[in-house]
Amino acid sequence: MTARPSQPRREPLGDRLVVIGLGLIGGSFAKGVRELGLFNEVVGFDLDLPSRRQAVELGVVDRCAESLEEACVGATVIQLAVPILAAEKVLAALATLPLGEAVVTDVGSAKGNIVRCAEQVFQGVPARFVPGHPIAGSEQSGVTAAKSTLFRRHKVILTPPPGTDPAALSLVDTLWRALEADVEHMDVRHHDEVLAATSHLPHLLAFGLVDSLARRHENLEIFRYAAGGFRDFTRIAGSDPLMWHDIFLANREAVLHTLDAFQADLDLLRAAIEQGDGHHLLGVFTRARVAREHFGKILARRAYVDVMHSKDLIFLAHPGGSLSGRLRVPGDKSISHRSIMLGSLADGVTEVEGFLEGEDALATLQAFRDMGVVIEGPNHGRVTVHGVGLDGLKPPPGPLYVGNSGTSMRLLAGLLSAQPFDTVLAGDASLSKRPMNRVAIPLREMGAVIETGPEGRPPLHIKGGQRLTAMHYEMPMASAQVKSCLLLAGLYANGQTSVTEPAPTRDHTERMLRGFGYPVNVDGSTARVESGHRLRSTRIEVPADISSAAFFLVAASIAPGSDLVLEHVGINPTRTGVIEILRLMGADLELLDQREVGGEPVADIRVRSAQLKGIDIPEDLVPLAIDEFPVLFVAAACAEGRTVLRGAEELRVKESDRIQVMADGLQALGVNAQPTADGILIEGGPLGAGEVHSHGDHRIAMSFSVAALRASGPIRIHDCANVATSFPNFLALASTAGMRVAEEANS
Ligand code: S3P
Repeated sequence: MTARPSQPRREPLGDRLVVIGLGLIGGSFAKGVRELGLFNEVVGFDLDLPSRRQAVELGVVDRCAESLEEACVGATVIQLAVPILAAEKVLAALATLPLGEAVVTDVGSAKGNIVRCAEQVFQGVPARFVPGHPIAGSEQSGVTAAKSTLFRRHKVILTPPPGTDPAALSLVDTLWRALEADVEHMDVRHHDEVLAATSHLPHLLAFGLVDSLARRHENLEIFRYAAGGFRDFTRIAGSDPLMWHDIFLANREAVLHTLDAFQADLDLLRAAIEQGDGHHLLGVFTRARVAREHFGKILARRAYVDVMHSKDLIFLAHPGGSLSGRLRVPGDKSISHRSIMLGSLADGVTEVEGFLEGEDALATLQAFRDMGVVIEGPNHGRVTVHGVGLDGLKPPPGPLYVGNSGTSMRLLAGLLSAQPFDTVLAGDASLSKRPMNRVAIPLREMGAVIETGPEGRPPLHIKGGQRLTAMHYEMPMASAQVKSCLLLAGLYANGQTSVTEPAPTRDHTERMLRGFGYPVNVDGSTARVESGHRLRSTRIEVPADISSAAFFLVAASIAPGSDLVLEHVGINPTRTGVIEILRLMGADLELLDQREVGGEPVADIRVRSAQLKGIDIPEDLVPLAIDEFPVLFVAAACAEGRTVLRGAEELRVKESDRIQVMADGLQALGVNAQPTADGILIEGGPLGAGEVHSHGDHRIAMSFSVAALRASGPIRIHDCANVATSFPNFLALASTAGMRVAEEANS
């Protein structure tokens, strides 16, 4: 049993590793390091004789020493794996030994105490002391449970105090990484605070609750009826009492700090129950539920962090097929964003139906939750927003992170410029490259104080407490986001704010403000609002998003034999450029059962395949189809003749540079597509198979999925994860309709 298993060997890192304390953690560390042959010998020490014997028998160590001195003098690395308070005593004993250049490290769950102790017993923290904490364990304990793979894909936090010898730190770091742990370095204090909140407090509550209930005289009765919730919540009360006793005494300060904060929150919950304050309860519960889901996802990913980082979601789209049936695409993204924003600022409760449960609109929802708004759902598109009124938002606990969503960032910038508190707006890598000066400059003219990153990019730091002054603004570009941003700021500005646009853009903000009873004056290309009014809660039915429907309008047009109905699509005249352009190209589109729902026109759209022809796209249609061009370029590639687009430079600053990225992709499929500064020239012709890159742009990914319908072979589309920002069920609906696109297996 003592022979080393035949593991791949490395060059030894040193002569002797000593592990003091041969329990689960110490035993697993010794065993893993020994199997890798990282030292000439691995020596164990434990006060418990049977553990020493078993450690040798089980191949955990090469041999055990009879005394601390015999083990440690001449060692390269000394690992302290004894309970926290015992570690303090062992450190004191080590301080009396001639340790030479030995590196000392430990595995305790609290770090402040051990560093203080080292400072005392060594008269100053030794430079070769590297405190550590592996976040791993199991219900089993003792050396018999030792597993050389225990730390694989678990976090190990090293907390080197200032002055730690870099070589010592690097050696300890190397050991843990060799055991395949995810090593992080952290400041001692921070470590103790984080662990107090995420591990120590929950254990305290579990132990405390079970004991409190068990001590009541009716305890049998209580436990007999205790259901799954009790069992789940109190599972950790089965942990080792001695170990936890040590942890609470060792990490006293940080635990008290987090306990006090929790106790204050608990008092608020108590008061809410006493006073029948359901709003407070709902706020806590909805926020907690979302946070739990969020953490759940993060935790689920943690186990395979590396894989996730490098993961490129690939769509594989097979050629051929036709589309038929009836389908309803998800809710309109622009309207979903605004329903949360205006619902939050209204007095009373707003009910939303058909809300888009895509990442962008959810980012807006989360931002308002972070600012204290109670929002229930989304649940199958239903959301209930408990409005706080125009002046009821609260300072968020940290930066508002809006992911990929330009609409969230730009519209929120207007609103936040007028709040009494400071905010930071941040986004993902793609959003962080997009221009924000288009909102920052006019907002500053109104008196806002905003700092951007270099060249006007995110993040935005917005200073609260400013008094905004109304102004008239002539927009240099046709942008509904800029218009909406300024109108939202105008709700708070002194006087009348007016915005003139160079061409009509989507008017959902104006329509929805009116739906909330807020007066908006629209005169030609100018929209005006004045402060001093209030928003009254309402019901909102979000129509299906014409921008998502557009993929199917083109798909059914270009795939022979198609006949498809798209239900309940929003056909607001500021959004129907795609219908007009496709009709000019010869598409067969019929608008059925046109009606108005909550201030927005909707229709069912029937689309049948047709031979498309290339056209010069009228420039006045550009802002009315701004998000639909990627898929319109696919229509152009399948059309007879040349299509020319001009006056569309805005496409270069969307989620990607949509002119360049589409031109590159079409060219990769053998299409003659020539980008220009403000548009593109596309010659219709055959489409080949190939590899294309969406550059994280949802609409590019979906457009090339559509292109495959007419390609001569499969199209592999890289970087498709962001389809979830606007159209989370795209693949399912596409395959229901008859397209052959799916996630590539193992991509
Ligand atoms: C949007 C406006 C448009 C559009 C975006 C949504 C909105 O952006 O591209 O997807 O909801 O106001 P611009 O205002 O930058 O044109």
